[in-house]
Amino acid sequence: MTKVSMTVNGKAVSGEVEGRTLLAEFLRNNLHLTGTHIGCDTSQCGACTVHVNGKMVKSCAILAQEADGAEVATIEGMANDDGSLGVIQAAFQEHHGLQCGFCTPGMVMAAADLLAKNTNPSEADIRSHLDGNICRCTGYHNIVKSIQAAASALS
Ligand code: FES
Ligand code: FES
Repeated sequence: MTKVSMTVNGKAVSGEVEGRTLLAEFLRNNLHLTGTHIGCDTSQCGACTVHVNGKMVKSCAILAQEADGAEVATIEGMANDDGSLGVIQAAFQEHHGLQCGFCTPGMVMAAADLLAKNTNPSEADIRSHLDGNICRCTGYHNIVKSIQAAASALS
């Protein structure tokens, strides 16, 4: 076992991991941040998307040890300080951007990554950015609408 330390949602954390422990597993099992979902663990579905040092990353695709010393943001960090939904989360709720919700944490983290780089994305920009995030329920239409609404709310 090896000790890893990182900052998650602004808080310093550490834990003991095996060499094979994925960042997604560390977040869920060690830190109990179960908002990060694991849908495939083979880098296909995007449900596990988080930000590592400001970049969108599939947390099943990197080892916890690779994130040692990093700044990590998860879906839990997208809420406001008082626990209410953040702007992107609220837009998903308002515009029915989810059904079962399994993909939603990854979608919200992907949306946050896009909106940090492009404050006024076109529908094509949004669909292209969500390329690595799979939703089995919504048909994507309302996810796109939610992200467009979040972009307006943030501008
Ligand atoms: S669980 Fe990471 S991409 Fe599916
Ligand atoms: S809302 Fe069910 S997988 Fe996207």
